[in-house]
Amino acid sequence: MAASDKVFAGSIPKFYDTLMVPLIFEAYAVDMAGLVAAFSPGAVLETAAGSGVVTRALAPKLGADARYVVTDLNQPMLDYAATRQPADTRIEWRQADALGLPFDDASFDAVCCQFGAMFFPDRIAGYAEARRVLKPGGHFVFSVWDRIEENAFADDVTNAVATVFPDDPPRFLARTPHGYHDVAVIREELSRAGFGSIEIATREKVSRGSSASAVATAYCQGTPLRSEIEARDASLLQLATDCATEALVSRHGEGPVAGKIQAHVIVAAG
Ligand SMILES: C[S@@+](CC[C@H](N)C(=O)[O-])C[C@H]1O[C@@H](n2cnc3c(N)ncnc32)[C@H](O)[C@@H]1O
Repeated sequence: MAASDKVFAGSIPKFYDTLMVPLIFEAYAVDMAGLVAAFSPGAVLETAAGSGVVTRALAPKLGADARYVVTDLNQPMLDYAATRQPADTRIEWRQADALGLPFDDASFDAVCCQFGAMFFPDRIAGYAEARRVLKPGGHFVFSVWDRIEENAFADDVTNAVATVFPDDPPRFLARTPHGYHDVAVIREELSRAGFGSIEIATREKVSRGSSASAVATAYCQGTPLRSEIEARDASLLQLATDCATEALVSRHGEGPVAGKIQAHVIVAAG
């Protein structure tokens, strides 16, 4: 993983939340909120919460006395999330690395993490941290994207942007968000972190954008792919976005576009 892959700062939080979240994160967030709420947890920790799409879906489902601690590595993402969340005394916002959680052992009934584990430099360490802070009988609910070929827009954008930088194609999307999809590896790493019960479901959904241009802008400017493009040549960000738009139009047509997305949803305990 490149150092810039985990930096969600600058203009990324706003573009991420307004463009990427409705495109691919919101539908999975609703599912995750339902899964976590079904355990009726008294205390919940969310890691890698980003701009708060799961927080917005889960908070209304938790009990009046629940404690909900919402964390992310990047403070700018949490700052953005807080602006979108109605005042709620049950929620504590806190910057935290999922690999070194500033919480006591056995503090939470549930830990949830939507599309964050791919960014952990050491997943076993991250899973062991989640397990450490869980009470006996608690659940760790998290999700990761399936391989990039199962996620149409990400694949199309990656291939199109590569044509702008043929000698050094930006591979952020393939390398990190879509780089951790082997369910056998996920099971093995959870087992090595100490989890005994592991359920993995692969969930396909449809991503819908108002236009090819909106989708291209979301991926090229609302994710760390932006930093990767700018590091090569900042003046080519718009050209790269335009190339991605053209590719999406040719694959998915003019006007509103729809493409397959697919993710693994994991519930671990024990
Ligand atoms: C793709 S976003 C997912 C955000 C949110 N969960 C969602 O579904 O929209 C990945 C998030 O992981 C965070 N992140 C990266 N490395 C992390 C780490 N080591 N610990 C905690 N959060 C991390 C990033 O700051 C970013 O907000």
